[in-house]
Amino acid sequence: MTETTGFIGCGNMATSLIGGLARSGFPATSIWVFDTDTQKTESAKSSYGIQVARSLDDLVSHATTLVLAVKPNHVREVLGNIRGCLVGKSTSLLISIAAGICIEDICRWAGREELAVVRVMPNTPSLVGAGAAALYANPFVTGHQREQAESIMRSVGLAIWLQKETDMDIVTAVSGSGPAYFFYIMEKLQQHAETMGLSSEQARLLVLQTAYGAAKMAMEDNHSLEDLRKRVTSPGGTTEKAIEVLEEEDLSGLLEKALLAACRRSREISETMKG
Ligand SMILES: NC(=O)c1ccc[n+]([C@@H]2O[C@H](COP(=O)([O-])OP(=O)(O)OC[C@H]3O[C@@H](n4cnc5c(N)ncnc54)[C@H](OP(=O)(O)O)[C@@H]3O)[C@@H](O)[C@H]2O)c1
Repeated sequence: MTETTGFIGCGNMATSLIGGLARSGFPATSIWVFDTDTQKTESAKSSYGIQVARSLDDLVSHATTLVLAVKPNHVREVLGNIRGCLVGKSTSLLISIAAGICIEDICRWAGREELAVVRVMPNTPSLVGAGAAALYANPFVTGHQREQAESIMRSVGLAIWLQKETDMDIVTAVSGSGPAYFFYIMEKLQQHAETMGLSSEQARLLVLQTAYGAAKMAMEDNHSLEDLRKRVTSPGGTTEKAIEVLEEEDLSGLLEKALLAACRRSREISETMKG
């Protein structure tokens, strides 16, 4: 059987994944999409030449792998609507990128206890092909289906596997919300550099390139982050003075509190999503 991927929802995340798949060489004839907003599907069709389904049922009938890419509050309704079609399809894989919706609920709402489901937590840099996603598979997912899910997520960045679904809350706190922490730190560095005398453009460019350069160096160098930090911290130098202030003010403790707060909130949201 020819493998086809069907996207339910054609918003920001689905469009970035469709773009990633197209750039990675997935044939446009194997990518299907359905969205209640036909402007979005027509736009994806004209950009990537993909196939647009007439309805949810039409999409399910064409796809061997479904990617659930609607907002979390629409998931239950969508799964209820495709329940009937899913029952007859024994080989389907469902990949859910909906934040906070656990696999047990997905299977129950889809009316298939033994449905193969991969749950994914992506992040916004996927939109520029530099995402970081964590994946968790339930026991009904085959090795081949794991590879399929991984290759979809790898088309827009890094993809790693989790052993426990509950780790999704930690992932949400670290990489799901993570881009905002880095934006916040860069925003503040830029503001302070401007107050100290640089122009807005000078400060912005230097901060962005430094963040990009530090991440690139850390990814290309096998040393630990601690070693890299120590290598640019000469005794008696300027960096040492700055790090001393960050340690006196316990930046590390603050970051820990921030991650724990995000993780707790992720658990709370998951609980409220349960049906
Ligand atoms: N963006 C992120 O950084 C991020 C990170 C991690 C996880 N996620 C997850 O990714 C999922 C998608 O997020 P997004 O930002 O791409 O959302 P989005 O841009 O709002 O896309 C969702 C699309 O689904 C459509 N839709 C709603 N009901 C539908 C239905 N019954 N059938 C088909 N399509 C339907 C929506 O149309 P309308 O707009 O007309 O409702 C919209 O076009 C969410 O579950 C989110 O939790 C996103």
